[in-house]
Amino acid sequence: SAPLRTHAAARGKFIGAALATSPLSNENSYRTIAATEFNQVTAENAMKWDSTEPSQGQFNFSGADAIVNFATQNDMQVHGHTLVWHNQTPGWVQNLGASAMRTAMQNHISQVVGRYADNPAVVSWDVVNEAFEDNGNYRTSFWYNTLGQGYIADAFRAARAADPDARLCINDYNTEGINAKSTAIYNLVSSLRQQGVPVDCVGFQTHLAIQYGFPNDFQQNLERFAALGVQVRITELDVRMQMPRSSSKDATQATYYRNVVNACMAVTACAGVTIWGFTDKYSWVPDTFSGQGAALIYDENYQQKPSYTAVHDAL
Ligand code: XIL
Repeated sequence: SAPLRTHAAARGKFIGAALATSPLSNENSYRTIAATEFNQVTAENAMKWDSTEPSQGQFNFSGADAIVNFATQNDMQVHGHTLVWHNQTPGWVQNLGASAMRTAMQNHISQVVGRYADNPAVVSWDVVNEAFEDNGNYRTSFWYNTLGQGYIADAFRAARAADPDARLCINDYNTEGINAKSTAIYNLVSSLRQQGVPVDCVGFQTHLAIQYGFPNDFQQNLERFAALGVQVRITELDVRMQMPRSSSKDATQATYYRNVVNACMAVTACAGVTIWGFTDKYSWVPDTFSGQGAALIYDENYQQKPSYTAVHDAL
């Protein structure tokens, strides 16, 4: 039957995957499935600060360009990920004083966004990632501790200056349901937009686990954000499980994938769904969540799982 991207395109949405540069250059199966099934790509790591500006003023776009070139060759959109985050950002940034840190942030955004501003494949950016704690407080990252909450507005203004046409997103996890964290983002986005700060999109990472249950108010949450006038998108979907796999866990996982795709399909402002990888051979889950895995839609031998069928049928 037709690949995922054919069905997604027919419904005016994207279906995407986060891609890693090493298998993209080394493995035919990886490349072929990525190009065949998906019409959108996010760099899993290659556009992060530690990859693009490891030392101050020394930019390296080799990995980022490889992702963008692959997308261009295969008629895929690119979502830039990510400009301002507390992780995978070099120590030299973290140790700057306020004035130098603000300047470094603005320069980084200007250089990275500016490089792709005229590239038609690169359409959107995660400008600020994971700025909140689960309780709705600002995360006390080095950004917040040094610059205060104003770093968020400053980052969006710098991104808009570097690319007037890109869609600029704030992105976070554990924000799928209506809760303290998603409400904090909702209130911030509402207030920033009232002040004319260019936030035009909210990303929901959607790193789910079958043992924690499905957020049944996901669609309702997407709708309240859409009512602010922003685009919403599912940016990093995966559904992990306690290992080992079983057919019953696979079936539960498939319902989660189906529910997420259905929620996006039901909301006009939802642009699409990006899965955080596609094969269990390359997933951040086992390295991050001890004893958990099998979170994606292909197994480690590139065989489609029930979760693939669920996504396919929901598109
Ligand atoms: C993860 C990558 O998948 C890993 O390869 C890397 O070692 C750490 O980062 N939220 C995000 C993503 O916004 O950038 C993270 O990606 C997963 C959680």
